[in-house]
Amino acid sequence: MYTGYSNFASSVDTAFLFILGVSVIFLVGITGVIIYFIIKYNKKRHPVAEEIEGSNKLEIIWTVIPTILVLIMFWVGWKAYIPERRIPKDALQVKVTAQMWSWRFEYDNGKVTDTLIVPQGKNVVLLLKSMDVIHAVYIPAFRIKEDVVPGREKSMWFKSDVPGTYDLFCAEYCGLRHSYMLSAVKVLPQDQFNAWFAATPPKMDSAAASVPGAAGKLLVQSKACIACHTFDGSKLVGPSFKGIFGHKVTVETDGKEREIVVNEEYIKRSILDPTADVVKGFQKGQMVSYKGQLTDDEIAKIIEFIKTLGDEKD
Ligand code: CUA
Repeated sequence: MYTGYSNFASSVDTAFLFILGVSVIFLVGITGVIIYFIIKYNKKRHPVAEEIEGSNKLEIIWTVIPTILVLIMFWVGWKAYIPERRIPKDALQVKVTAQMWSWRFEYDNGKVTDTLIVPQGKNVVLLLKSMDVIHAVYIPAFRIKEDVVPGREKSMWFKSDVPGTYDLFCAEYCGLRHSYMLSAVKVLPQDQFNAWFAATPPKMDSAAASVPGAAGKLLVQSKACIACHTFDGSKLVGPSFKGIFGHKVTVETDGKEREIVVNEEYIKRSILDPTADVVKGFQKGQMVSYKGQLTDDEIAKIIEFIKTLGDEKD
């Protein structure tokens, strides 16, 4: 028997199918009556119009039946909705941070991913936080959706018994690259989840760490800078990191254009106060400050990484 991919799927589907079914019955019924009347009261067949008095019996029928139907609709919807709002206490908690334009999932052991990974058959609570504008977590297969609102603490939960990979979308238009907020939920059997959860976070091995800029590259990826900045010179929401270090750029500062050289100081200012100097051709206000999100040491590592992209000029 189909029970869906989450604990909410069958009750949401029941509500949906009931409302859809009632709508279809009325669509067919009303269309049928319209066609019947068109034929019956056609001018050729029925040349003289006549006044029809009201019918109490009919009026009671078409008031009582729809009232009962909408109350049933309310009841099945309510029954599907209320369990979604009863957040369980014994659950795996995952902090979800939405930001233009990426998702970040953080576990209580410090693990951070861009894909939501959860154990099969366990309650999972998502603690929702937005860094900038309103986003929305939408997992169609689980039949759940919840807005992520800046300045508000919100949560949602689910339990899935079917291992697999399911789409996770942003369902609230949040700007230019809204469609890029496409991620996934991976439901793993408990032992596989435990193995993943216990594995050390993907820190660099010592060989990789000796490559210049490697630590900065990991930061740029994990902090989702790459949602807007590329390494290869192509232009997204923000300027590419390629070939900028040590080169001149035209920026707008307090409404005036000026030329500056991209150096350590400029990159640091761009990270902490992104609206101070906006590179010409890019829109102001697309980036939020990373103050408090990156330490000075981490910013230095990112600058090291950007330097490694700055050698070839093209
Ligand atoms: Cu985030 Cu749309």
